[in-house]
Order: sequence, then structure tokens, then C-alpha cells
Amino acid sequence: MAVSLFDASLLDDKLCEAPFVVRPLRRDDFAKGFMGVLAQLTQIGEVTSATFEHRFDAMARANGVLGTYYVVVVEDTARRAIVGTATLLVEQKFIRGAALAGHVEDVVTDKGVRGAGIGRVLNEALLRLARKVGCYKVMLDCADNNIPFYEKFGYAPKERQMAIYLPPKAKL
Ligand SMILES: CC(C)(COP(=O)(O)OP(=O)(O)OC[C@H]1O[C@@H](n2cnc3c(N)ncnc32)[C@H](O)[C@@H]1OP(=O)(O)O)[C@@H](O)C(=O)NCCC(=O)NCCS
Repeated sequence: MAVSLFDASLLDDKLCEAPFVVRPLRRDDFAKGFMGVLAQLTQIGEVTSATFEHRFDAMARANGVLGTYYVVVVEDTARRAIVGTATLLVEQKFIRGAALAGHVEDVVTDKGVRGAGIGRVLNEALLRLARKVGCYKVMLDCADNNIPFYEKFGYAPKERQMAIYLPPKAKL
């Protein structure tokens, strides 16, 4: 079996019913359409399978030092296809007694299965993960139309997001 990005026992596999499974991202998930699902969220740019594996390996090495990148996927095992993904990024802080803060990123369900509970599974999985690793809070940015979605899981609006986009540079 391909390498998992993090320890699968941190996830509760009972969150999902067959044919769906919730699990960590694996090194062979490019072939199962992982990037195609992310493309339904934002611009993915040029990411080949080699680029994907390179980035996966960098995240896995970082996790080996300090658990940081928790990319979770839901797979439809009947079709061997990724149908949803969400990421918990765990930030090491100095404040609050050197606490851990969680950031939710890149939450998306494949268009063909929206409304079937996959988004709920992903959010519950990330919140359980955040509790297990010991985050004192979990934050996310979202469009106004997704506020009611996240409110279902206990999030509440707080402050404003600000962003600046910088010119792209070669990354790998
Ligand atoms: C937002 C998104 C992830 C929801 O995924 P999904 O798999 O369709 O969600 P679920 O079927 O698990 O829905 C869970 C609950 O949230 C509700 N819900 C889903 N999207 C919602 C929305 N935009 N606003 C309010 N409620 C929403 C569902 O009705 C359901 O409610 P219920 O459990 O009370 O019946 C999905 O629509 C998506 O991928 N959108 C495009 C990408 C995106 O906007 N991602 C969020 C980035 S911040």
C-alpha cells in the first residue's frame, strides 16, 4: 500500500459508510483524481504526478519532524476515486504557553457527490484531528456563502481576512 501522509489511526474511519472511506492522503492519490477535486476549489496550475510526489514527500518529511500537514481525503472505493479533501495545518506558536493552532485549508467535495455528507465527514475528521493533536483553536477563511456551512460544525465569524498576492516564483 502507498505511503500515508500521517498516521491513519489519528482518524476515525467510522465517520464514513461504504463505499466511502476517510483517510490520510496517500502518495498514489494523484492517479485517483486528487488534483481534479482540488481544481473544483481553485486554480491548481501545472502539477504533474512528479510535482505531486515531490510535494507529498516534503510534507511527509516535515511531518516526521513535527506533525504539521494533515491532508485528509474521502475515497469512493467502488470507483477508486477521491471525492473530497480538506487539510488541517498545525501551527506551532510561542503564545498561550507554546500552544498549537489549527488552520483549515482546501475543503472541497467533488461536484458529483455534493449534498451527500462528504463535507460533513471532512469537517468532523479535521476537528477530531485538531482535538487529538491538541490545538487550542481552529481557524479558517471562507466565502460569505459558506459561512452557514461552517457554522454547522461550531465555527463562528471572527475578525476579517486580509491577503496580498505576490508574484509567483519557481517553487520546486
Ligand atoms: C462547501 C462544500 C465543501 C460542502 O460539501 P458537501 O459535501 O456538499 O457538504 P455536505 O453534504 O456534507 O453538507 C453538510 C451540511 O452542510 C449543508 N451545506 C452544504 N453546503 C452548504 C452551504 N454552502 N451553505 C450552507 N449549508 C451548506 C448541507 O445542507 C448539510 O446540512 P445538513 O447536515 O444539516 O443536512 C461543497 O459545496 C464544495 O466543495 N464547494 C466548493 C468548494 C468550496 O467552496 N469549499 C469551501 C472553501 S472555504
